[in-house]
Amino acid sequence: MREIIIIDDEQYIGNIIREALSEFRDFRIHNFTDPAQAEDFIAKNGVDLVLTDLVMGNYSGVHILETTLANHPDAIVILMTGYPTVKTAIAVLKKGGYDYLIKPFKLEDLKSAIKRGLEHQSVRRENVALRSQIELMKVADAHGHGMKLHPFLKLIIDSTVKVIPAEFSAILLRDRLTQKYNLQCSQMREGEWSWSFSPNAALKLPEGDKIGLEPTYINDEFRFEEQQYKRSIIYYPLMSRGETLGILVVTYVDRFNHISPGQLRLISLLAASAANAVDSGRQERNLRKSYLMTIRALANAVEARDICTAGHTDRVFRLVRVIARKLGWDKERLGYLKTGCILHDIGKIGVPDAILNKPGELTAEERKTMEKHPELGMRILAGIPSLEPVLPYIISHHERYDGKGYPYGLKGEDIPIEGRLLAVVDTFDAILSNRPYRQGTDAEAAVAEILKNRGTQFDPMLVDLFMEAYREGKIAAVTSNGREKRSAVSLNPV
Ligand SMILES: [Fe+2]
Repeated sequence: MREIIIIDDEQYIGNIIREALSEFRDFRIHNFTDPAQAEDFIAKNGVDLVLTDLVMGNYSGVHILETTLANHPDAIVILMTGYPTVKTAIAVLKKGGYDYLIKPFKLEDLKSAIKRGLEHQSVRRENVALRSQIELMKVADAHGHGMKLHPFLKLIIDSTVKVIPAEFSAILLRDRLTQKYNLQCSQMREGEWSWSFSPNAALKLPEGDKIGLEPTYINDEFRFEEQQYKRSIIYYPLMSRGETLGILVVTYVDRFNHISPGQLRLISLLAASAANAVDSGRQERNLRKSYLMTIRALANAVEARDICTAGHTDRVFRLVRVIARKLGWDKERLGYLKTGCILHDIGKIGVPDAILNKPGELTAEERKTMEKHPELGMRILAGIPSLEPVLPYIISHHERYDGKGYPYGLKGEDIPIEGRLLAVVDTFDAILSNRPYRQGTDAEAAVAEILKNRGTQFDPMLVDLFMEAYREGKIAAVTSNGREKRSAVSLNPV
């Protein structure tokens, strides 16, 4: 039902117009002869179209126009006057008036002006609805393209603030162990009434058995600068497969109405998208965890076969991490680094024991077999999308900066930094480790060998960072942990 307001100090004109508009369906018509009363009504009620006289005693229709648009930005205002001037017509249109009718006018002209105005309003409102749909498509698209969970949840609350449009939106996720809801992200839209709102109060979940199981609504009202406002707070559960994963909190403020059923449907769609994302994130994490446990078991099996590399994998990871932090790598990259270190020699699973644990130097043929382990490792892990970022560690940790490494003989920065980095540390730890063919050495001798091969075997920039860490005692902090003193050198670990 749309609301039409007619304001004219001549009662009979108002009545004629009301009569003429009676054919309009789904409209409620309110007649006023007192412009002050009309203004009061407009300020306190929902209004779609205002038809007002321009001059009513000392009262100007332009004032009515301003009040209407201040309270209802998408309302249509049509002015009528018996004393037209170009100046007033321009002033009216400039202030956002939709049309200007000169009395006496034909009722048909009035009706067609009103029809055009309302159609214009519908198109504008549909555009707003379309914008909502575009926001929802953005959400669906981001989910389809596998956006990470946290940015995705932020997109959900960002869309909630834009589409509803919410005053405040937040997502809390439920901790399975403690059953507590923890805040993940929130966003607030600044408004003139913001002072009256406390996000912390909205985030405090109301008492009740239904919280987290069913949507809960709290309707509230407050006054600000002589105006009455309505605020709705909605706690919408994020449910997936019968389990509550979290809650979407939305607060909405409007002068005249609490949140509408249409807006609630949008909230339910956004909550369902968030729940889906949380659920698939959990499933993926579990899958990844169990996959990594299997891989870890395989890596342990390799270590167990290679009698001299016990603990090598863990030490290499802790040493590489020291340098990666100096490179400013973020948490995600450090996570891949850990997996890369665990898996870098996984290909050795395909190297026979007799070669892997041969006490003497390897023959040319045996060395060829041993040097296949990066490619073997790649083949084992190929086709697992979540492990794609760790493949550079596996394939290129035996490349050399001067191009004389294997398997591809890549040179300089053509070698992925993951491989160049692992090469320095893997070699350093191998020198320190007991080998079947040589005894270990102490750290200074190992460092001397690393320095000797700066720019030939190793990336000079990474050697410099390694040396910096060494001087800071960060290398010793890892290697001295449970290590025996060793002597003798093997520079090319395989
Ligand atoms: Fe290796």
